[in-house]
Formats: sequence, C-alpha cells, structure tokens
Amino acid sequence: MQDAIKEAAREIAEAKNLVVLSGAGISVESGIPPFRGPGGLWEKIDPMKYANVDYFLKNPAEVWQVLIKDMKEVLDHAQPNDAHLGLARLERLGILTTIITQNVDGLHQKAGNTDVIEFHGTFAWQYCLDCSKRIPTSEVNLSQIPPYCECGGILRPDCVFFGEMIPTQDLYRSQQLSAACDIMLVIGTSALVQPSAHMPVIAKNSGAKIIEINPARTPLSSQISDLIIMGKAAPSMNSLMDEINSLQ
Ligand code: OAD
Repeated sequence: MQDAIKEAAREIAEAKNLVVLSGAGISVESGIPPFRGPGGLWEKIDPMKYANVDYFLKNPAEVWQVLIKDMKEVLDHAQPNDAHLGLARLERLGILTTIITQNVDGLHQKAGNTDVIEFHGTFAWQYCLDCSKRIPTSEVNLSQIPPYCECGGILRPDCVFFGEMIPTQDLYRSQQLSAACDIMLVIGTSALVQPSAHMPVIAKNSGAKIIEINPARTPLSSQISDLIIMGKAAPSMNSLMDEINSLQ
C-alpha cells in the first residue's frame, strides 16, 4: 500500500484539475454508517422499501420513524474527519477543483471545500410536500412524526430517493467535470449505484487517471482504477497528504 500512496502522491501533486467522487465510506470515520457491507444501513432495513419515493409518499410516518429520524440524530452531530479535511487542503493547494459526492451529510462543505456537487441532494434541508417551503433539518421538531410544515403539509428531506431523478444541472455538470479532469480520486464508494458510478468511467474514457481509496475492492477496481489504496479513508488520506506535503 505504501507504494500506491507514494505513486498517487506524485500524480496528485502534479495534477491541475483533480475531481473527487466520494461515497458513504468517507464518512464512516465520522460515525455515519455506510449503506452496504458490514454494519451497513441496508443490512437492517430494505432500501427498495424505505428509500423509495413511492413508498415514502404513501407511508411518510413509517419512513420518518424507521429511517429519517435516526439519520437526523446521527447527522445533526457528525463532524468532518481527516479524509474530508485532507480534501479541503487539496482545494487550498489549487489541485482539487470539485467534489462530486453521493453523501447527503454536508461534511465536505463543513471541512472547507467550496465546490461540492451533492449528487443525491442534501439532508441539511427539508421541504414541504404542499407549499415547498424549505426548513433547515436542525430546526425540525420531531415531537410529531412525520413532522409538518406550518401550512400543514408533510416535510421530506431534500435528498434523492430511489425512483427519483438526479437534478439535471448536477448530472450534466458532473458529467462535464468528469470528462475534463486529469485525475479522479474515488473515495469510499461501492460504485454500485448509477448514474454516479459512471463518473469514473467517463473520466477514464476521457484520459484521466483514476485513483481509488477503499478498504474493499469494487467494480471499478479491476478495469477502471489505475491505482488502488486499499485502506480506510482517514488514515489513507493522512498518509497521502504527508507524501504530497513532502513534495511541495
Ligand atoms: P455504500 O454503502 O454502497 O458503499 C460504501 C463503500 O465504502 C464500500 O465500498 C466500503 O468498502 C467503503 N468503506 C467502508 N468503510 C470505509 C472507510 N472507513 N473508508 C473508506 N471506505 C470505506 O455507499 P455509496 O457507494 O456511497 O443512495 O452508496 C451509493 C448510494 O447508495 C448512496 O448515495 C445511497 C445508497 O443507496 C441513495 O440513497 C439514493
């Protein structure tokens, strides 16, 4: 792994336009469980039921009770870890331009990154199904489930549920940035959900190098990734940043 980190550091230090694709794994060390794999959320609840928009619209109280309420408890208190902070430093160094994240936790922005495409929306806001008013999630009162807007409509998170489209602007911009980057750093995603998992394929086909950080292999590992750092996000990013600093 040390060789992969050294080589990745050399490549990244020379990059002009590095784009990141991040997934739930980058926030595991911030105390947020991933969706798949050991300890994953989808081991406990069925995503095709509780993360599906049609099911939510028919059963909002149940989905709030089983899924959204607990997410709020965890995300209200989560803080960026060293992996998020390392990416913020890469932006300050003028290497990293944009993060495309599948995460809804807002931790990249909290760490200091300024251009973050929230591919699956954000949990920081709820909006009313009736009047569309937006309310910060931290201000939502959970004494009643589901929580209601002052107009009487039900609140829902501003996230993309299964069965919903990725906002067009986010999708197009992500595709464009993937095609234009010189390196794509893919951190903590199982690369199983489309269309986000296609971004490294676009980058690779457009000539970018793909560097993957993940303790487990993914569908990208054998054909798409040029370099694989098989480790957890925070310690891997710390080692990578130490190497990059020594090259500056
Ligand atoms: P997953 O839960 O599918 O995958 C998490 C990935 O993180 C796996 O490949 C793990 O091996 C890796 N991982 C675990 N711990 C890690 C650590 N400490 N450091 C680095 N990597 C670690 O999460 P995503 O790929 O983000 O969508 O899932 C994609 C989408 O599926 C989510 O955005 C969500 C979900 O259903 C929607 O809800 C629409």
